[in-house]
Amino acid sequence: MAKARRKRRRAVGPVRRGNPSGGRSQRTLRGREAVTVLGPATETAALRAWAEVDLRAIAHNIREIRARLAPSARVMAVVKADAYGHGVVPVCQAALKAGASAVGVATLGEGVALRLGGIRAPILVLGGLTVGEVADAAAHQLSISITSQEMAQLILERPQRLPTGVHLKVDTGMTRLGVFPREVPVLLDRLVTKGVSVAGCYTQLASADQADHAMTSEQLARFHPVLAVVRARFPRVVVHVANSAGALASPDTHFDMARVGLAMYGLYPSPAMRSLASLRPAMRLYSRVVRTARVGPGTTVSYGAAYRAQTSTTIATIACGYADGYPRLAGETGEVIIRGMRHKVAGRVCMDHLMVDVGDHPVAVGDVVQLFGDAPSADEVAAHAHTISYEVLCGVGLRVPRIYVR
Ligand SMILES: Cc1ncc(COP(=O)(O)O)c(C=O)c1O
Repeated sequence: MAKARRKRRRAVGPVRRGNPSGGRSQRTLRGREAVTVLGPATETAALRAWAEVDLRAIAHNIREIRARLAPSARVMAVVKADAYGHGVVPVCQAALKAGASAVGVATLGEGVALRLGGIRAPILVLGGLTVGEVADAAAHQLSISITSQEMAQLILERPQRLPTGVHLKVDTGMTRLGVFPREVPVLLDRLVTKGVSVAGCYTQLASADQADHAMTSEQLARFHPVLAVVRARFPRVVVHVANSAGALASPDTHFDMARVGLAMYGLYPSPAMRSLASLRPAMRLYSRVVRTARVGPGTTVSYGAAYRAQTSTTIATIACGYADGYPRLAGETGEVIIRGMRHKVAGRVCMDHLMVDVGDHPVAVGDVVQLFGDAPSADEVAAHAHTISYEVLCGVGLRVPRIYVR
Protein backbone atom coordinates (compact mmCIF):
# COMPACT_ATOMS: atom_id res chain seq x y z
CA MET A 1 0.00 0.00 0.00
CA ALA A 2 2.72 2.44 1.07
CA LYS A 3 4.76 1.35 -1.92
CA ALA A 4 1.82 1.92 -4.25
CA ARG A 5 1.29 5.40 -2.87
CA ARG A 6 4.96 6.21 -3.33
CA LYS A 7 4.79 5.05 -6.94
CA ARG A 8 1.69 7.11 -7.66
CA ARG A 9 3.34 10.23 -6.39
CA ARG A 10 6.63 9.75 -8.18
CA ALA A 11 7.54 12.98 -9.89
CA VAL A 12 10.08 13.94 -12.50
CA GLY A 13 12.18 17.01 -12.07
CA PRO A 14 15.01 18.15 -9.90
CA VAL A 15 15.40 15.94 -6.86
CA ARG A 16 16.11 18.00 -3.76
CA ARG A 17 17.25 16.83 -0.38
CA GLY A 18 16.00 17.81 3.02
CA ASN A 19 12.50 18.49 4.21
CA PRO A 20 12.37 21.49 6.50
CA SER A 21 8.61 21.84 6.17
CA GLY A 22 8.40 18.37 7.59
CA GLY A 23 5.57 17.01 5.51
CA ARG A 24 4.05 16.43 2.13
CA SER A 25 0.92 18.42 2.77
CA GLN A 26 -0.63 20.55 5.42
CA ARG A 27 -3.90 19.21 6.71
CA THR A 28 -7.10 21.13 6.26
CA LEU A 29 -7.96 22.85 9.45
CA ARG A 30 -11.64 22.98 10.33
CA GLY A 31 -13.24 25.63 8.12
CA ARG A 32 -9.99 26.44 6.41
CA GLU A 33 -8.66 25.75 2.95
CA ALA A 34 -5.98 23.17 2.43
CA VAL A 35 -2.60 23.70 0.88
CA THR A 36 -2.51 20.43 -1.00
CA VAL A 37 1.05 19.76 -1.96
CA LEU A 38 0.84 16.56 -3.96
CA GLY A 39 4.45 16.13 -4.98
CA PRO A 40 7.15 14.65 -2.81
CA ALA A 41 8.18 17.22 -0.22
CA THR A 42 11.82 16.27 -0.68
CA GLU A 43 11.71 17.72 -4.17
CA THR A 44 10.35 21.07 -3.15
CA ALA A 45 12.00 21.64 0.19
CA ALA A 46 14.82 23.65 -1.29
CA LEU A 47 12.73 25.50 -3.85
CA ARG A 48 11.64 29.12 -3.49
CA ALA A 49 8.72 28.65 -5.88
CA TRP A 50 7.44 25.74 -7.90
CA ALA A 51 4.49 24.73 -10.02
CA GLU A 52 3.09 21.33 -9.32
CA VAL A 53 1.52 19.77 -12.40
CA ASP A 54 -0.83 16.89 -11.74
CA LEU A 55 -0.75 14.72 -14.86
CA ARG A 56 -3.56 12.60 -13.43
CA ALA A 57 -5.74 15.72 -13.67
CA ILE A 58 -4.75 16.14 -17.33
CA ALA A 59 -5.80 12.52 -17.99
CA HIS A 60 -9.03 12.95 -16.04
CA ASN A 61 -9.91 16.13 -17.93
CA ILE A 62 -9.27 14.48 -21.31
CA ARG A 63 -11.64 11.68 -20.31
CA GLU A 64 -14.24 14.20 -19.12
CA ILE A 65 -14.10 16.02 -22.45
CA ARG A 66 -14.19 12.84 -24.52
CA ALA A 67 -17.27 11.72 -22.64
CA ARG A 68 -19.04 14.82 -23.94
CA LEU A 69 -18.18 14.19 -27.60
CA ALA A 70 -19.64 11.65 -29.98
CA PRO A 71 -17.77 8.34 -29.65
CA SER A 72 -16.27 8.81 -33.11
CA ALA A 73 -15.03 12.35 -32.38
CA ARG A 74 -11.39 12.80 -31.48
CA VAL A 75 -9.53 15.24 -29.23
CA MET A 76 -6.58 17.34 -30.30
CA ALA A 77 -4.65 18.40 -27.21
CA VAL A 78 -3.68 22.04 -27.68
CA VAL A 79 -0.26 22.38 -26.11
CA LYS A 80 1.03 25.66 -27.48
CA ALA A 81 3.00 28.00 -25.20
CA ASP A 82 4.63 25.08 -23.38
CA ALA A 83 1.23 23.48 -22.78
CA TYR A 84 -0.17 26.71 -21.35
CA GLY A 85 2.80 26.82 -19.00
CA HIS A 86 2.43 23.25 -17.73
CA GLY A 87 5.39 21.74 -19.62
CA VAL A 88 4.79 20.40 -23.06
CA VAL A 89 6.27 16.89 -23.26
CA PRO A 90 4.85 15.46 -20.00
CA VAL A 91 1.44 17.00 -20.74
CA CYS A 92 1.44 15.57 -24.26
CA GLN A 93 2.38 12.14 -23.03
CA ALA A 94 -0.39 12.21 -20.43
CA ALA A 95 -3.00 13.56 -22.85
CA LEU A 96 -2.19 11.01 -25.57
CA LYS A 97 -2.20 8.17 -23.09
CA ALA A 98 -5.62 9.30 -21.83
CA GLY A 99 -7.13 9.28 -25.31
CA ALA A 100 -6.14 12.43 -27.20
CA SER A 101 -5.38 11.54 -30.83
CA ALA A 102 -3.42 14.55 -32.00
CA VAL A 103 -1.56 17.56 -30.74
CA GLY A 104 -1.87 21.24 -31.72
CA VAL A 105 0.94 23.77 -31.42
CA ALA A 106 1.26 27.41 -32.49
CA THR A 107 4.74 27.46 -34.00
CA LEU A 108 7.17 25.30 -35.93
CA GLY A 109 9.59 25.39 -32.98
CA GLU A 110 6.97 23.99 -30.63
CA GLY A 111 6.27 21.14 -33.05
CA VAL A 112 9.95 20.32 -33.50
CA ALA A 113 10.47 20.38 -29.73
CA LEU A 114 7.75 17.77 -29.39
CA ARG A 115 9.31 15.53 -32.03
CA LEU A 116 12.68 15.85 -30.30
CA GLY A 117 10.90 15.00 -27.05
CA GLY A 118 9.79 11.70 -28.58
CA ILE A 119 6.15 12.54 -29.41
CA ARG A 120 5.14 10.57 -32.49
CA ALA A 121 1.42 11.44 -32.61
CA PRO A 122 0.06 13.67 -35.40
CA ILE A 123 1.05 17.29 -34.71
CA LEU A 124 -0.68 20.25 -36.37
CA VAL A 125 0.95 23.68 -36.44
CA LEU A 126 -1.97 26.07 -36.00
CA GLY A 127 -0.02 29.24 -36.78
CA GLY A 128 1.46 30.61 -40.00
CA LEU A 129 4.85 29.56 -41.35
CA THR A 130 7.50 31.10 -43.60
CA VAL A 131 8.86 29.34 -46.67
CA GLY A 132 11.83 27.74 -44.87
CA GLU A 133 9.60 26.64 -42.05
CA VAL A 134 7.27 24.76 -44.40
CA ALA A 135 10.21 22.60 -45.48
CA ASP A 136 11.26 22.08 -41.87
CA ALA A 137 7.72 21.08 -40.97
CA ALA A 138 7.86 18.42 -43.69
CA ALA A 139 11.19 17.16 -42.37
CA HIS A 140 9.67 16.67 -38.92
CA GLN A 141 6.34 15.23 -40.15
CA LEU A 142 4.36 18.17 -38.82
CA SER A 143 1.03 18.98 -40.43
CA ILE A 144 0.60 22.62 -41.35
CA SER A 145 -2.28 25.05 -41.68
CA ILE A 146 -3.03 27.36 -44.59
CA THR A 147 -3.40 30.49 -42.50
CA SER A 148 -3.40 33.17 -45.21
CA GLN A 149 -3.40 33.67 -48.95
CA GLU A 150 0.34 34.36 -48.71
CA MET A 151 0.94 31.02 -47.08
CA ALA A 152 -1.23 29.31 -49.69
CA GLN A 153 1.01 30.89 -52.33
CA LEU A 154 4.14 29.50 -50.64
CA ILE A 155 2.62 26.05 -50.70
CA LEU A 156 1.52 26.35 -54.32
CA GLU A 157 5.02 27.44 -55.38
CA ARG A 158 6.71 24.39 -53.81
CA PRO A 159 4.07 21.66 -53.54
CA GLN A 160 6.73 18.95 -53.70
CA ARG A 161 8.23 20.12 -50.37
CA LEU A 162 5.00 19.80 -48.45
CA PRO A 163 4.31 17.89 -45.27
CA THR A 164 1.66 15.24 -45.66
CA GLY A 165 -1.23 16.90 -43.89
CA VAL A 166 -2.33 20.35 -44.97
CA HIS A 167 -5.25 21.80 -43.03
CA LEU A 168 -7.32 24.62 -44.45
CA LYS A 169 -8.04 27.25 -41.81
CA VAL A 170 -11.17 29.24 -42.62
CA ASP A 171 -11.73 32.68 -41.16
CA THR A 172 -15.40 32.78 -40.20
CA GLY A 173 -15.29 35.69 -37.79
CA MET A 174 -12.07 35.85 -35.76
CA THR A 175 -10.33 37.97 -38.40
CA ARG A 176 -7.02 36.61 -37.17
CA LEU A 177 -5.80 33.78 -39.37
CA GLY A 178 -7.19 31.73 -42.24
CA VAL A 179 -8.71 32.34 -45.64
CA PHE A 180 -12.14 33.86 -46.07
CA PRO A 181 -15.01 31.60 -47.19
CA ARG A 182 -15.32 33.44 -50.50
CA GLU A 183 -11.67 32.63 -51.31
CA VAL A 184 -11.98 28.91 -50.78
CA PRO A 185 -13.37 27.64 -54.13
CA VAL A 186 -10.58 29.23 -56.21
CA LEU A 187 -7.93 28.21 -53.70
CA LEU A 188 -9.15 24.61 -53.79
CA ASP A 189 -8.94 24.62 -57.61
CA ARG A 190 -5.35 25.79 -57.42
CA LEU A 191 -4.40 23.26 -54.74
CA VAL A 192 -5.98 20.41 -56.71
CA THR A 193 -4.17 21.52 -59.88
CA LYS A 194 -0.86 21.34 -58.02
CA GLY A 195 -1.66 17.97 -56.51
CA VAL A 196 -1.93 19.28 -52.94
CA SER A 197 -4.46 17.39 -50.87
CA VAL A 198 -6.34 18.93 -47.97
CA ALA A 199 -6.34 16.63 -44.94
CA GLY A 200 -8.20 18.91 -42.56
CA CYS A 201 -10.54 21.87 -42.52
CA TYR A 202 -11.17 24.08 -39.51
CA THR A 203 -12.15 27.41 -38.06
CA GLN A 204 -11.67 29.08 -34.70
CA LEU A 205 -14.68 30.10 -32.63
CA ALA A 206 -14.61 33.63 -31.27
CA SER A 207 -17.33 33.53 -28.61
CA ALA A 208 -18.16 29.94 -27.73
CA ASP A 209 -17.60 30.76 -24.04
CA GLN A 210 -20.59 33.09 -24.02
CA ALA A 211 -24.11 32.09 -23.08
CA ASP A 212 -25.40 33.75 -26.23
CA HIS A 213 -24.84 31.28 -29.07
CA ALA A 214 -25.47 33.88 -31.79
CA MET A 215 -21.84 34.44 -32.83
CA THR A 216 -21.11 30.70 -32.87
CA SER A 217 -24.21 30.12 -35.01
CA GLU A 218 -23.08 32.88 -37.35
CA GLN A 219 -19.65 31.30 -37.69
CA LEU A 220 -21.14 27.87 -38.30
CA ALA A 221 -23.47 29.34 -40.93
CA ARG A 222 -20.40 30.66 -42.75
CA PHE A 223 -18.44 27.45 -42.26
CA HIS A 224 -21.00 24.89 -43.47
CA PRO A 225 -21.09 26.00 -47.13
CA VAL A 226 -17.28 26.07 -47.22
CA LEU A 227 -17.22 22.60 -45.79
CA ALA A 228 -19.57 21.33 -48.48
CA VAL A 229 -17.17 22.64 -51.14
CA VAL A 230 -14.12 21.15 -49.43
CA ARG A 231 -15.80 17.79 -48.88
CA ALA A 232 -16.80 17.64 -52.55
CA ARG A 233 -13.08 17.66 -53.39
CA PHE A 234 -11.71 15.87 -50.33
CA PRO A 235 -14.38 13.55 -48.90
CA ARG A 236 -12.12 12.28 -46.10
CA VAL A 237 -11.19 15.70 -44.76
CA VAL A 238 -11.00 15.87 -40.94
CA VAL A 239 -13.18 18.71 -39.66
CA HIS A 240 -12.41 20.44 -36.36
CA VAL A 241 -14.08 23.54 -34.96
CA ALA A 242 -14.70 23.22 -31.21
CA ASN A 243 -12.31 24.65 -28.67
CA SER A 244 -12.86 23.92 -24.96
CA ALA A 245 -16.00 26.03 -24.82
CA GLY A 246 -17.42 24.43 -27.96
CA ALA A 247 -16.56 20.95 -26.72
CA LEU A 248 -18.32 21.56 -23.40
CA ALA A 249 -21.32 23.61 -24.47
CA SER A 250 -21.99 23.43 -28.22
CA PRO A 251 -22.46 19.94 -29.70
CA ASP A 252 -23.05 21.49 -33.13
CA THR A 253 -19.35 22.45 -33.17
CA HIS A 254 -18.00 18.96 -32.48
CA PHE A 255 -17.59 17.55 -36.03
CA ASP A 256 -14.69 15.01 -36.24
CA MET A 257 -12.37 16.46 -33.62
CA ALA A 258 -12.26 19.09 -30.84
CA ARG A 259 -9.13 21.18 -30.29
CA VAL A 260 -9.00 21.43 -26.53
CA GLY A 261 -6.67 23.56 -24.43
CA LEU A 262 -8.04 25.25 -21.32
CA ALA A 263 -10.43 22.49 -20.25
CA MET A 264 -7.64 19.91 -20.49
CA TYR A 265 -5.74 22.02 -17.94
CA GLY A 266 -8.79 21.88 -15.69
CA LEU A 267 -10.23 25.37 -16.07
CA TYR A 268 -13.61 26.37 -17.41
CA PRO A 269 -13.96 28.82 -20.29
CA SER A 270 -16.70 30.55 -18.28
CA PRO A 271 -18.16 30.13 -14.78
CA ALA A 272 -21.49 29.06 -16.33
CA MET A 273 -19.79 25.95 -17.72
CA ARG A 274 -18.87 24.55 -14.31
CA SER A 275 -21.99 22.38 -14.32
CA LEU A 276 -21.12 20.83 -17.70
CA ALA A 277 -18.10 18.78 -16.65
CA SER A 278 -16.10 17.96 -13.57
CA LEU A 279 -12.68 19.33 -14.39
CA ARG A 280 -9.65 19.31 -12.11
CA PRO A 281 -7.05 22.09 -12.24
CA ALA A 282 -3.72 20.54 -13.17
CA MET A 283 -1.43 23.29 -11.96
CA ARG A 284 -0.79 24.66 -8.50
CA LEU A 285 1.70 27.44 -7.95
CA TYR A 286 3.50 27.32 -4.62
CA SER A 287 6.14 29.32 -2.85
CA ARG A 288 7.53 29.70 0.65
CA VAL A 289 7.66 32.30 3.34
CA VAL A 290 11.25 33.59 3.42
CA ARG A 291 10.93 36.28 6.09
CA THR A 292 8.47 37.45 8.70
CA ALA A 293 8.56 40.91 10.23
CA ARG A 294 6.55 42.19 13.16
CA VAL A 295 5.76 45.83 12.42
CA GLY A 296 3.88 48.67 14.02
CA PRO A 297 0.94 50.69 12.76
CA GLY A 298 1.82 53.03 9.92
CA THR A 299 4.57 50.80 8.52
CA THR A 300 4.59 50.92 4.72
CA VAL A 301 5.09 47.88 2.50
CA SER A 302 6.64 47.51 -0.98
CA TYR A 303 7.27 49.91 -3.84
CA GLY A 304 5.37 53.14 -3.82
CA ALA A 305 4.64 52.61 -0.11
CA ALA A 306 1.08 52.04 -1.28
CA TYR A 307 0.21 49.72 1.64
CA ARG A 308 0.29 50.91 5.21
CA ALA A 309 -0.27 48.63 8.20
CA GLN A 310 -3.28 49.77 10.20
CA THR A 311 -2.25 48.08 13.45
CA SER A 312 0.63 46.04 14.83
CA THR A 313 0.86 43.10 12.47
CA THR A 314 3.13 40.55 10.83
CA ILE A 315 4.22 41.03 7.25
CA ALA A 316 5.39 37.78 5.61
CA THR A 317 7.58 37.91 2.54
CA ILE A 318 6.87 35.23 -0.07
CA ALA A 319 9.52 34.21 -2.61
CA CYS A 320 7.28 34.59 -5.64
CA GLY A 321 6.90 37.67 -7.76
CA TYR A 322 5.63 38.67 -11.14
CA ALA A 323 8.68 37.10 -12.81
CA ASP A 324 7.50 33.81 -11.36
CA GLY A 325 3.94 34.24 -12.58
CA TYR A 326 2.00 36.01 -9.86
CA PRO A 327 0.55 38.96 -11.81
CA ARG A 328 1.53 42.37 -10.51
CA LEU A 329 -2.01 43.63 -10.94
CA ALA A 330 -3.39 40.86 -8.71
CA GLY A 331 -1.46 42.40 -5.84
CA GLU A 332 -4.04 45.08 -5.26
CA THR A 333 -6.72 42.65 -4.09
CA GLY A 334 -5.25 39.14 -4.34
CA GLU A 335 -5.09 36.51 -1.62
CA VAL A 336 -2.81 33.55 -0.95
CA ILE A 337 -3.17 30.58 1.39
CA ILE A 338 -0.77 29.87 4.23
CA ARG A 339 -1.51 27.22 6.86
CA GLY A 340 -5.03 26.84 5.52
CA MET A 341 -5.90 30.52 5.82
CA ARG A 342 -6.33 33.19 3.20
CA HIS A 343 -4.20 36.28 3.59
CA LYS A 344 -4.29 39.46 1.55
CA VAL A 345 -1.35 40.53 -0.53
CA ALA A 346 0.07 43.69 1.01
CA GLY A 347 1.41 46.31 -1.35
CA ARG A 348 2.73 45.94 -4.86
CA VAL A 349 3.96 42.59 -6.13
CA CYS A 350 7.72 42.80 -6.84
CA MET A 351 9.66 40.89 -9.49
CA ASP A 352 10.85 38.16 -7.11
CA HIS A 353 8.68 38.59 -4.00
CA LEU A 354 5.34 39.59 -2.69
CA MET A 355 4.34 40.44 0.85
CA VAL A 356 1.22 39.45 2.77
CA ASP A 357 -0.26 40.88 5.93
CA VAL A 358 -0.91 37.86 8.16
CA GLY A 359 -2.05 39.82 11.20
CA ASP A 360 -1.43 37.88 14.40
CA HIS A 361 -1.66 34.46 12.78
CA PRO A 362 1.30 32.18 13.33
CA VAL A 363 3.32 32.05 10.12
CA ALA A 364 6.95 31.01 9.95
CA VAL A 365 9.82 31.07 7.50
CA GLY A 366 9.61 27.91 5.37
CA ASP A 367 5.81 27.71 5.40
CA VAL A 368 4.33 26.63 2.08
CA VAL A 369 2.21 29.25 0.32
CA GLN A 370 -0.38 28.38 -2.30
CA LEU A 371 -0.66 31.20 -4.83
CA PHE A 372 -3.12 29.43 -7.06
CA GLY A 373 -4.47 25.95 -7.68
CA ASP A 374 -7.74 24.73 -6.22
CA ALA A 375 -7.89 27.81 -4.02
CA PRO A 376 -7.37 30.50 -4.86
CA SER A 377 -8.13 29.32 -8.38
CA ALA A 378 -6.32 30.65 -11.43
CA ASP A 379 -9.67 32.21 -12.32
CA GLU A 380 -9.68 34.14 -9.05
CA VAL A 381 -6.14 35.39 -9.59
CA ALA A 382 -7.08 36.32 -13.15
CA ALA A 383 -10.08 38.30 -11.90
CA HIS A 384 -7.86 40.20 -9.45
CA ALA A 385 -5.45 40.95 -12.30
CA HIS A 386 -8.22 41.94 -14.73
CA THR A 387 -7.24 39.18 -17.12
CA ILE A 388 -8.17 35.58 -18.01
CA SER A 389 -6.96 32.29 -16.58
CA TYR A 390 -5.12 31.50 -19.85
CA GLU A 391 -2.75 34.40 -19.21
CA VAL A 392 -2.20 33.42 -15.57
CA LEU A 393 -1.24 29.85 -16.56
CA CYS A 394 1.00 30.93 -19.43
CA GLY A 395 2.61 33.55 -17.20
CA VAL A 396 4.26 31.10 -14.80
CA GLY A 397 7.92 31.95 -15.16
CA LEU A 398 10.67 29.95 -16.79
CA ARG A 399 12.67 29.86 -13.56
CA VAL A 400 9.83 28.09 -11.73
CA PRO A 401 10.49 24.34 -11.79
CA ARG A 402 7.55 22.17 -12.80
CA ILE A 403 7.12 19.20 -10.50
CA TYR A 404 5.09 16.43 -12.11
CA VAL A 405 2.74 14.20 -10.20
CA ARG A 406 1.86 11.02 -12.09
C1 LIG B 1 -6.68 27.56 -33.22
C2 LIG B 1 -6.94 27.19 -31.79
N1 LIG B 1 -7.63 26.08 -31.53
C3 LIG B 1 -7.89 25.69 -30.27
C4 LIG B 1 -7.46 26.44 -29.18
C5 LIG B 1 -7.78 25.96 -27.80
O1 LIG B 1 -8.62 26.85 -27.15
P1 LIG B 1 -9.10 26.56 -25.65
O2 LIG B 1 -7.86 26.70 -24.81
O3 LIG B 1 -10.09 27.62 -25.37
O4 LIG B 1 -9.63 25.19 -25.63
C6 LIG B 1 -6.75 27.61 -29.42
C7 LIG B 1 -6.31 28.42 -28.29
O5 LIG B 1 -6.31 29.61 -28.25
C8 LIG B 1 -6.48 28.00 -30.75
O6 LIG B 1 -5.81 29.11 -31.04
